[in-house]
Amino acid sequence: MKIVSIINYKGGVGKTSITANLGAELAWRNYNVLLIDLDPQTSLTFSFINPDEWEKRFLKSNTIKDWFDSFESGEVKLLKDLIFVPERVNARLKDKGKLHLIPSHLGLINVDLELATQMGGSNLKQTKKNYIKIHRRLANGINKFNQDDFDVILIDCPPNFNIVTKNAIVASDFILIPAKPDYLSTLGIDYLKRNVNELVRDFNEYVDVDDGSEINKIDPKVLGVIFNMIQIYANVPISTIRPFIKQTKKLGIPVFDSFVRENKSLFGDSPQYGIPVILNAYNNNQTFKGIVKEMEEFVTEFIKKSNIKNGNTRN
Ligand SMILES: Nc1ncnc2c1ncn2[C@@H]1O[C@H](COP(=O)(O)OP(=O)(O)OP(=O)(O)O)[C@@H](O)[C@H]1O
Ligand SMILES: [Mg+2]
Repeated sequence: MKIVSIINYKGGVGKTSITANLGAELAWRNYNVLLIDLDPQTSLTFSFINPDEWEKRFLKSNTIKDWFDSFESGEVKLLKDLIFVPERVNARLKDKGKLHLIPSHLGLINVDLELATQMGGSNLKQTKKNYIKIHRRLANGINKFNQDDFDVILIDCPPNFNIVTKNAIVASDFILIPAKPDYLSTLGIDYLKRNVNELVRDFNEYVDVDDGSEINKIDPKVLGVIFNMIQIYANVPISTIRPFIKQTKKLGIPVFDSFVRENKSLFGDSPQYGIPVILNAYNNNQTFKGIVKEMEEFVTEFIKKSNIKNGNTRN
C-alpha cells in the first residue's frame, strides 16, 4: 500500500481533477484505490456524489472532519468506518478495481485551529512530543488499515500548508504536485519544496526527543510535478511554457514527461456526472481522445515512478 499526497499551495491548479482522474484510471487498471478528501472545499467528494446525497448520508457524522473531531470527544472513530464506494463511478468500473472515498466537510477548516491549540506544552520536550502526536494523527489512522486493504491511497489536499496538510505529508510515501506552467506557479513549487523539507527536518528531529518511541522517521519523496492546463497548438504544447518546465527542473524537482492540456468544458462538466473525464466512454471527439491519451500516459508514468503494485499481481 502506497500513500500519495496531492499538494500545491496554489489554488485551482488541478489538484482535485488530477486526483479524481488518477484514482479512477488506477481503479480501471485493477488497482484497489482509496481517495481521501482532505480539503474543506469538498470538491473531490462532490466529484463523485451529489450534494443532496452527501447531505443525507454524510453531513451529520460521516466525514473526515468527524474523524478528527472524534479525538476531542474521546470516542475515537476508525477511518475505515468512513469509507464508502461511490456508485456511479464504480458502476462504470464494473468488475475492475474499486474506487473508495472518505468524504470531506466544510467544517474541516476548524479542525486546523483546534489542532493548532493542542500543539503547545509546558516545556520544550512536551511541546515536541505534542508536535509529533498532532502531526501523526492521520498516519496513525491509516496505519490501522491492513497493508492489502488498498493498493494506493490518494490524499487530495487543500491549497495551503496548514496542520491538516502536514498530516497528509507525514503519512505519505510520495508527494505529487500538479501545477500550471506559469511564473507564479513555478515560484510556488520552490516554496512548497522548502516547506516540505522543513517539515521533514523538524519531524525527524522531534521524533528523536522521545526516547524509546517507536515512531519512524519520515521521508516522503517528491514524485514529480505534473503540468496541467497546458495550452496546445497543433497537438504540441505551445513554446512559451517551456521555460517554466525548465525552471522547475533546475530547482531539482522531478517533472513528469506527460502533461494534461487545458479544456474547460470537459473538466468543468465531469464532476456533476460523478465520473471523471478519463472514464467518460461516450465521447467521440478528437479533443476528448487527446486528453484521455495524455491522462493515460500520465497514469502509466505515475505507476512506474511510484512502483505501486496491484493486488492481482502481488504474490
Ligand atoms: N486541464 C484542465 N483544463 C481546463 N480546466 C481544468 C483542467 N483541470 C482542471 N480544470 C478546472 O479548473 C478548476 C480548478 O481545478 P481543481 O478544482 O481540480 O483545482 P485544485 O487545485 O484542486 O483547486 P483548489 O486549490 O481550489 O483545491 C476546476 O473548475 C476544474 O474543472
Ligand atoms: Mg482541490
